[in-house]
Amino acid sequence: MNKIYSCGILGLGSSLPEKVLTNFDLEKMVDTSDEWIVKRTGISERRVLREDEPAYKLAVDAGRKALDDAGISPEELDLIIVATETPDYYTPSMACIVQSNLNATNAAAFDLNSACSGFIYALTVSSQFIQNGYYKYILLIGCEGLSKIIDWKDRNTCVLFGDGAGAAVVGRVDEGYGIIATHIGADGSLGRCITAPSTYASPEDLEVRKGDNKRVLVMDGSEVFKFAVKVMERGTIEVLEQSNMTLDDIKLIIPHQANIRILDNAAKRLGISKDKVFSNLYKYGNISSASIPVGLEEAYKNNLFSKGDNLVLVSFGAGLTWASALIKWSK
Ligand SMILES: CC(C)(COP(=O)(O)OP(=O)(O)OC[C@H]1O[C@@H](n2cnc3c(N)ncnc32)[C@H](O)[C@@H]1OP(=O)(O)O)[C@@H](O)C(=O)NCCC(=O)NCCS
Repeated sequence: MNKIYSCGILGLGSSLPEKVLTNFDLEKMVDTSDEWIVKRTGISERRVLREDEPAYKLAVDAGRKALDDAGISPEELDLIIVATETPDYYTPSMACIVQSNLNATNAAAFDLNSACSGFIYALTVSSQFIQNGYYKYILLIGCEGLSKIIDWKDRNTCVLFGDGAGAAVVGRVDEGYGIIATHIGADGSLGRCITAPSTYASPEDLEVRKGDNKRVLVMDGSEVFKFAVKVMERGTIEVLEQSNMTLDDIKLIIPHQANIRILDNAAKRLGISKDKVFSNLYKYGNISSASIPVGLEEAYKNNLFSKGDNLVLVSFGAGLTWASALIKWSK
């Protein structure tokens, strides 16, 4: 591909549900304890949508904030991509709902499902459109209503996940800034490690779902843990090599937030201090495709990096999938 323009992030936004579900609330719902959850995952609380609240409202809110931050009007958008594994509707797509709510009348719109790796997948896809000059402004949103597919009686999963949305406007930036490298990968042979059936459930799917709802998310936590630690390291090294950089050149790693032990393990394998790995897991849990943009915005607002700093974003998720990106911050 002929790269004509550099592509970078022009604005960020996030939106979390108001309702907070603490570990102490969960103690009343399943056989668990705040002590176990904090020690084994690093999570203290998470945000969840009310039953009558759709996830797309978070996507619209986060998208609007990212547009404001970028100083771009909705009419200027060429494309909206929503990364989600929990769309409110099979159709219309979450991206079309966002397009309508924002009045982004000139934007094409589609959803992309790479689970927790979705935001970096979407960043990779959108960077092609910006770099080759086809589009000028794209809105990317990671948005999840995971609480809707959680079995609230399954302590193996219900303590881990939350709801939320994070958004970024991408467009042209000065040469040498923005997205320097991306890497996306998948191993579908490990797909059974995390499943949530939609229109079809196999006998195997039905067997592992004990309750009445046969559509809930089921996970083999320890298999995912092993995979996660491996691909966090691999994904980080991949984009460093593509960029001819080392970890010394990186100001901050913003990883997908799933379990503090995964982050600590990855830091250890990479031989870096835990301080170089951003975490806000304790207050949101795992919000899947939203975790990277929500983390990025929080780290930016807290001045953890500034213009010219190199960042690595790295993620893993259901599929199983993984993804990483190296960005020279341009704002
Ligand atoms: C799920 C996860 C937290 C489990 O932690 P773990 O330390 O590996 O725990 P184990 O699975 O070995 O289970 C240990 C025991 O704790 C129990 N346990 C599991 N969840 C529990 C909970 N919420 N409260 C109390 N006990 C719990 C298990 O039942 C098991 O009991 P047993 O020994 O009597 O069978 C961890 O494997 C994990 O985070 N995996 C990655 C998941 C992930 O990131 N998924 C999303 C991908 S995007």
